[in-house]
Amino acid sequence: MTQPDSPLRIGIAGLGTVGGGVVTILQQQAALLSARTGRTLQLVAVSARDQSKQRGLSLDGVRWETDATALATAADIDLVVELIGGAEGTARTLVMQALQHGKHVVTANKALIAAHGAELAALAEAKGLGLAFEAAVAGGIPIIKTLREGLAANRYQRITAILNGTCNYILTTMEKSGRDFDDVLAEAQAKGYAEADPSFDIDGVDTAHKLAIVAALAFQCRPNLDALHIEGIRRISKTDIHFARELGYRIKLLGITEQREDGTVEQRVHPCMIPLNAPLATVDDAYNAVQIAGDSVGRLFLEGRGAGAGPTASAVVADLIDLARGHAMPPLVAPAATLPALRPADISSLQGEYYLRLTVVDRPGVLADVAAICRDAGISVASLIQHAHAPEEPVDIVLTTHHTPESQMQQALAAMGSLPTMMAPPQMIRIEAP
Ligand SMILES: NC(=O)c1ccc[n+]([C@@H]2O[C@H](COP(=O)([O-])OP(=O)(O)OC[C@H]3O[C@@H](n4cnc5c(N)ncnc54)[C@H](OP(=O)(O)O)[C@@H]3O)[C@@H](O)[C@H]2O)c1
Repeated sequence: MTQPDSPLRIGIAGLGTVGGGVVTILQQQAALLSARTGRTLQLVAVSARDQSKQRGLSLDGVRWETDATALATAADIDLVVELIGGAEGTARTLVMQALQHGKHVVTANKALIAAHGAELAALAEAKGLGLAFEAAVAGGIPIIKTLREGLAANRYQRITAILNGTCNYILTTMEKSGRDFDDVLAEAQAKGYAEADPSFDIDGVDTAHKLAIVAALAFQCRPNLDALHIEGIRRISKTDIHFARELGYRIKLLGITEQREDGTVEQRVHPCMIPLNAPLATVDDAYNAVQIAGDSVGRLFLEGRGAGAGPTASAVVADLIDLARGHAMPPLVAPAATLPALRPADISSLQGEYYLRLTVVDRPGVLADVAAICRDAGISVASLIQHAHAPEEPVDIVLTTHHTPESQMQQALAAMGSLPTMMAPPQMIRIEAP
């Protein structure tokens, strides 16, 4: 292994939450980083949109590039850190050009890697360069390194994860406070925990980007965002959270990927009810967690902060340390040219247990209609809850099922939704035993 003693000359594009955190670590921990790598990690140039913005960073002696892509061609830069974000535009151009011009790349950009990871990995390999993206999934949790290196001897069976801190914060707060989704989301936005446009987080897209990367690493294939089943948390109400607790579950937005015996890969993001004593059920607030099942290692559980300046910059700088030490490896576990397309397993072929909440007019025969639909769809009911209420008022009937094919559940949901006594679309949440 070579440990050149020349400085590693770094250019950073993007000085927001993560970029600011990286600059801070590079400056405050300079001696420690140099002791660990045998090299100076030298910040040569930076770029962001607005040079006049007050960032609370000391950038004396660091060159400012108005055009971020200038970092890709600068002769005095060895490594470009892309912290702008987005699958297209400047971020993608910068990363492509940096690799084309012989510079290693570190990025925290999950959207970019999920959409273009295979193409960028192939380019990095062709040029003998590093393309590292530890911070793209689960912030401070070293999940990329764990899958690619620490557990590389394993055949992965299933990975189940909480990958979006905003959703976990909202669900945890709804449960603790008994408040409803819109109310908690508005508070999270006011506190800066959720974006002004929260759709990326709460509709499951952010989790999907991360899961696509995890699935590609675990099951050795090219990331495939199109093959993901994605549902977010907008439809989760305090009523569901209340019933979950009564049934011994908590509701979490999970990303789940699993390889089936026929080689197809499940990639799904949706709210799940999980038993209160499952490790993932104990992950609160904005924390992330990843549970990995590997054939030799068994079950492994990692929990930590999935976002924010410190945890994300910790992961970015870990990648810088690797590259400063000369450790560049195939970005997607195996050489990109050898990676097959992911063969997706269709959600309709899933088998599992389900929670159903039906808001109905309480008239004689309603339960019989529901029972008949379950019978016709071949669904076996495991439990049923209906609380006392005033006559003729809408009432929630909650059912849980035994193991049921998803296709039969969808058939039953369609039939239940068209009952004249149904006051709202039936609510279905999958029950998982992670
Ligand atoms: N925030 C987190 O906790 C977190 C966690 C994991 C991964 N990530 C990923 O890390 C990346 C950065 O996220 P962030 O939260 O740090 O974003 P951010 O706070 O919005 O910062 C983005 C930075 O990019 C700069 N920028 C935007 N367009 C640019 C352009 N065309 N040329 C040069 N600079 C440009 C902005 O400049 P101005 O400052 O001048 O506006 C800003 O400094 C994203 O890919 C994100 O998904 C973030």
